[in-house]
Amino acid sequence: MEQRPLGRTGADVSVVGLGTWQLGGDWGDVDDDSAAEVLDAALDAGVTLLDTADVYGDGRSEERIRRALVARSDRPFVATKAGRRADPFEAAQYTPENLRAWIDRSRRNLGVETLDLVQLHCPPPAVYSDHRVYDALDAMVADGAIAAYGVSVETVAEGLTALEHPGVQTIQVILNVFRRKPLEELLPAAAKAGVGVLARVPLASGLLTGKYDESTTFAPDDHRNFNRNGEAFDVGETFSGVPFEVGVAAAREVAAIAGDAPTAAFALRWVIDQPGVTTVIPGARTVEQVHGNVAAAELPPLTDAQLSDLERVYDERIRAHVHDRW
Ligand SMILES: NC(=O)c1ccc[n+]([C@@H]2O[C@H](COP(=O)([O-])OP(=O)(O)OC[C@H]3O[C@@H](n4cnc5c(N)ncnc54)[C@H](OP(=O)(O)O)[C@@H]3O)[C@@H](O)[C@H]2O)c1
Repeated sequence: MEQRPLGRTGADVSVVGLGTWQLGGDWGDVDDDSAAEVLDAALDAGVTLLDTADVYGDGRSEERIRRALVARSDRPFVATKAGRRADPFEAAQYTPENLRAWIDRSRRNLGVETLDLVQLHCPPPAVYSDHRVYDALDAMVADGAIAAYGVSVETVAEGLTALEHPGVQTIQVILNVFRRKPLEELLPAAAKAGVGVLARVPLASGLLTGKYDESTTFAPDDHRNFNRNGEAFDVGETFSGVPFEVGVAAAREVAAIAGDAPTAAFALRWVIDQPGVTTVIPGARTVEQVHGNVAAAELPPLTDAQLSDLERVYDERIRAHVHDRW
């Protein structure tokens, strides 16, 4: 699979990575065996970047990654996140001591001395401009607890703020056919700064596979049920903030534009080809989904007609719901 340099980290990573929120929780149940199979399938298919977080299943996703890697000789780049264990969830909790404790816990969960990458996990907005936070992260780079750090953001504005800090090596942002705002300013700014970009929620939580219809329901412990209106966290993380019925109708049009290509892979190819993107990190709950997603790396670029048709779908159906919000 095509590998790209992840900003200035010195690592090359696959254009299709694997998001592992599903292997922790909040997406209905994924048992230990299925999680191990998903991880093995991704690595066997050439995926070299895994995205996880300390809070996915309260550490379960990180621990499953550690267990999967014990049996393998290859070492993917593992990007984790810190900061959502803050309780209460406020900027004052982002002390050097708390950051250190969260990061040390991830090192234990993942079974490594040095974490490849720690991303601030969509913290309260004030954190992105708090130099004490970056100083604490710089100190952990210096003592070898982490090799690099970056940020995961909800909004373009947060990403632009983070880019002002020279120690930030990566930005993770929602980018997909239904979330185009980062194309305008954030991706060009990241490219100019030599900062890697991890594109998350690339399938709009599954909408962009075209497999749901208006009657589709989700398990009670699936955020697509319990966070439909932002009850638990930022509503932009669930279906990219697009109302479900609106997204289902728009996804039907996307599937038609994809033609013979599988809709999920087609939607991922769109993300991969956006200038500034390093890697796209679709989440997968099954081996079949992993295979469907890595197939994006082999698809040809979209045609000009497909690109303009997708833009029309966005303008007509999606833009009003999301564009000025994130
Ligand atoms: N704040 C943050 O930093 C943050 C927030 C959100 C996500 N993330 C990261 O980004 C990753 C990706 O985002 P996401 O998982 O939220 O959303 P996503 O990748 O847009 O959607 C994942 C869902 O799409 C469906 N799917 C995936 N591949 C498929 C395929 N080939 N065919 C059919 N269906 C497929 C599955 O839905 P079903 O479950 O219905 O099968 C899967 O659960 C996460 O795993 C996580 O690592 C980070």
